Amino acid sequence: MLMTDNRQTEAAWEYHDGTKHSYRSVRESGHFLDFSNYPMPFKIYKTLEPIPLPRDLPPLAMPLLEAIAEPGTGPPGERVPDLAALAATLHLSAGITRGPRGKDVEVQFRAAACTGALYHVELYVVCGDLPGLPAGVYHFGVHDAALRRLRAGDFRAVLVNAAGAEPAVAAAPAVVVCTSTYWRNAWKYEARTYRHCFWDTGTILANLLATAAGQRLPARVVLGFVDAPVNRLLDLDSDREVALALVPLGRSAAPPPARAPAIGPLNLDVEPYSRFEVDYPAIRAVHAASSLGSPEEAAAWRGGAPPGDPPPPAGPTVALQAPSDAEAPADSVTEVILRRGSTRRFGHQAITLAQLSTLLDRATQGVPADFLDPPGVTLNALYLIVNAVDGLAPGMYVYHRGPRVLEQLREGTFRREAGYLGLEQALPADASVNIYFLADLAPILARFGNRGYRAAQLEAGILGGKAYLAAYAQRFGATGLTFYDDDVTGFFSPQARGKSVMFLTAFGHPARRRAT
Ligand SMILES: Cc1cc2nc3c(=O)[nH]c(=O)nc-3n(C[C@H](O)[C@H](O)[C@H](O)COP(=O)(O)O)c2cc1C
Repeated sequence: MLMTDNRQTEAAWEYHDGTKHSYRSVRESGHFLDFSNYPMPFKIYKTLEPIPLPRDLPPLAMPLLEAIAEPGTGPPGERVPDLAALAATLHLSAGITRGPRGKDVEVQFRAAACTGALYHVELYVVCGDLPGLPAGVYHFGVHDAALRRLRAGDFRAVLVNAAGAEPAVAAAPAVVVCTSTYWRNAWKYEARTYRHCFWDTGTILANLLATAAGQRLPARVVLGFVDAPVNRLLDLDSDREVALALVPLGRSAAPPPARAPAIGPLNLDVEPYSRFEVDYPAIRAVHAASSLGSPEEAAAWRGGAPPGDPPPPAGPTVALQAPSDAEAPADSVTEVILRRGSTRRFGHQAITLAQLSTLLDRATQGVPADFLDPPGVTLNALYLIVNAVDGLAPGMYVYHRGPRVLEQLREGTFRREAGYLGLEQALPADASVNIYFLADLAPILARFGNRGYRAAQLEAGILGGKAYLAAYAQRFGATGLTFYDDDVTGFFSPQARGKSVMFLTAFGHPARRRAT
């Protein structure tokens, strides 16, 4: 077994530096997409009986723009999800919402954006007895919208113990566990997939947090847990699939039983994803190096995040024009999530400063997460390339969350640069705005060890996912994008010197289809 230490942070740096994209690296990569070995985007247990989830669920009426700004606490008192609430949560986070369509392969598109539409993130539920669902460990089968029970009984104590008695986990009637099956994304993205693990979990969690808020269920993202027992509980082959995040859902005064039944291996049969899989040791190495070994280590890991805010403005600033709740579009959580789908071509039509303000304001109210304490702190700062926003001069900006102002770093037209930085694609050049999420990894790794890398990537994915939703709530479009790492930092420097790019999203109005 690999002996590693979360405090030896060369491992996170080595992974991050080793998976940067540059003009050269992209050209020198000999990788090609082998469609004859295309990975199936579903995990299908061959022998477990499906437990169909209720379908015709009532829409969640809370305005999406309100839901994404909620603090994750829900109203006080007992909040126990029933089977319908669980079904809504799973469907609106990771369920199939559109399709099938596609060029090389037919894709059934899902509630949350995912790199390459490869859908490598799986959801499990570990719960006590819920109304409509007996205690157990379940897998959410996306292909048929059904649960499958891996283990019968109340196993929540395994998670409570693994998370060092994290209070939200200890009080949760149900915990959603997100995993990644590396190969299903590495087929296209190779070792860079470990970043995508957190990006693509992040967009799912943005939806999940909004869906929980829409049902007035407390929800929290927990990253501080001992990895091995969680992987064992889900019977994962941890060289190929690992647990990435726990999301305690709901709150109950009745604590789970202090001891869980024994967790022996299950060796359940799963449909193969591909004819063969390729192993990327760099992924396994950084995951092992960012793993925690004991409940005490997990308990000491959470909280105390170094704030990622930029230094106070030194240049000209523009105040946000965020509307009040009453003025903001009121499209519901369900409507917006079902409407979302990444824009494939942006027109050059501007969005307004009020729309950009609403997006920035609502998407950055904070993420309820164990590593973000005090509440409201974020690890990432937002850097913008503004191409076309009515009421805001084109140029580069950094966002200050406290005073809610955009600081102009340089005025100018940067469409060409935006296209280059976003991996030479048309989408970032044509968009109205590009928002980069940048983190200063040195203090983050100093506080959290290698696991801080997971936290910084995941937080950026959640914030990016919320921003995606905020765009669709206001009826314009968005897409995630990938980028040339060091060139982005260079572009925003000197302000951004030393920072690392975690995530990129572009926003704008979709191009009108040409009449044929
Ligand atoms: C983090 C992230 C990065 C992405 N990068 C790109 C990209 O570089 N180019 C692109 O055309 N689409 C990109 N996408 C969009 C995905 O291809 C899209 O989400 C996926 O095909 C699923 O479609 P949907 O978002 O419409 O549901 C990205 C999405 C995410 C979440």
